[in-house]
Amino acid sequence: MADLRIQLAGIASPNPFWLASAPPTNTGYQVQRAFEAGWGGAVWKTLGDPIINTSSRFAAIHFNGQRVAGFNNIELISDRPLEVNLKEIYETKKRFPEHALVVSLMVEPKREKWHEIVKKVEAVGVDGLELNFGCPHGMAERGMGAASGQQPDLVEMQTMWVKEAARTPVIVKLTPNITDITATAKAAVRGGADAISLINTINSLAGVDIDTWNTIPHVGGKGAHGGYCGPAVKPIALNMVAECARNPLVGVPISGIGGVSSWRDAVEFILMGSTGVQVCTAAMHHGFSIVEDMIDGLNNYLDEKGLKSVNELIGKSVERYSDWGDLDLNYAVVARIEQDTCIVCNKCHIACEDTSHQCIERHIDDTGAAYLKVREEDCVGCNLCSIVCPVEGAIEMVEVPSMEPALSWNQRQAAIASLGKSNDSDDGDKKEAV
Ligand SMILES: Cc1cc2nc3c(=O)[nH]c(=O)nc-3n(C[C@H](O)[C@H](O)[C@H](O)COP(=O)(O)O)c2cc1C
Ligand code: SF4
Ligand code: SF4
Repeated sequence: MADLRIQLAGIASPNPFWLASAPPTNTGYQVQRAFEAGWGGAVWKTLGDPIINTSSRFAAIHFNGQRVAGFNNIELISDRPLEVNLKEIYETKKRFPEHALVVSLMVEPKREKWHEIVKKVEAVGVDGLELNFGCPHGMAERGMGAASGQQPDLVEMQTMWVKEAARTPVIVKLTPNITDITATAKAAVRGGADAISLINTINSLAGVDIDTWNTIPHVGGKGAHGGYCGPAVKPIALNMVAECARNPLVGVPISGIGGVSSWRDAVEFILMGSTGVQVCTAAMHHGFSIVEDMIDGLNNYLDEKGLKSVNELIGKSVERYSDWGDLDLNYAVVARIEQDTCIVCNKCHIACEDTSHQCIERHIDDTGAAYLKVREEDCVGCNLCSIVCPVEGAIEMVEVPSMEPALSWNQRQAAIASLGKSNDSDDGDKKEAV
């Protein structure tokens, strides 16, 4: 069995699976039950100035038989009194000293407000703080959540204020509702963040009821934009984590969040630079016990890979993530149909014929049976046929050796530019000669 322990910016945890700040971490009762179930850490539901939550606040997207492919909410931060939360945090930490207990905070962008809440929360013995600059809905009028998190200078300044008062590690949680996530990640680091966590939820409207014309969800006939999360957001979160991980100006540990539902998802986030992961929607959908499969799956995976510790996995795919301009334009794959496996459903032919490069031919063999064959010289290796094929293994994307050396777009442009320069200087020489 591999060692699953992690240290995120000095915060020790028995495994990399934490519950994210959200309904599953609303009370001491819940967090303690989660630790008993096996979760290594928890980020307590965001604390701040008293608020009131609306009734009717969640909605989900069920896609093609898959329930909760995406999850939408218009919930705000904790609506329980601060003193009650602090008492329960103290009791929870006392009972579970080895688990990671981080508390999420969100207050107005005022120095004294941040100092005050940091001191109160640290006094009850937390392992770290997470600053919620991500909540996409509500409280914007007070400059909180994403209203702060979309402005790098506000992220930097507030992180600095927190660091002035904090004795425990400070994690800055980033909003994905921004063009370039590294702008706010770098701002957090400039402000002194010990780690970043991402992503919070994505601006969303789950749907419109076509019978009543109300939004989904609605509060007495009115709706407001919410935050989207769950399996549907994983690719967006993974890209943002990778962008931060490969940016040398970020350079702090990352807690990966967004659509993590299984140990496989966690491995992907860790390979892309996360030290650990946080989970919300999957726990809300299936309960705390899903962590058992996550722990077993990760353990087996590490054993199979011959790795002794989960830490050996962190960031192993980061250097394989690059810019499009650095990809080899001479690398090529083509589709090949395995005749023994193919059920001749024709889906690949339709996809290639209607929306790709018209190179899957239909034939009839000597016995009169139909079969499909790729005209490889015209195949551009787009992968579409293998994506739409309903039979595992019926289409293989095969690498074809290239006669040309590797050449990226950037190298190509640089070569053209240097050619232009040498022509210019040739012209110049000639002109001088004349
Ligand atoms: C109902 C709900 C409430 C949430 N409340 C908070 C919150 O109080 N503070 C916070 O930082 N994030 C909050 N989040 C965001 C989650 O912590 C997490 O960033 C997001 O859901 C993505 O993870 P997931 O795809 O595993 O759900 C909330 C999410 C949901 C669904
Ligand atoms: S990979 Fe793309 S171009 Fe090639 S056969 Fe499939 S769909 Fe057509
Ligand atoms: S989609 Fe797959 S199974 Fe269907 S015809 Fe093409 S290769 Fe065969």
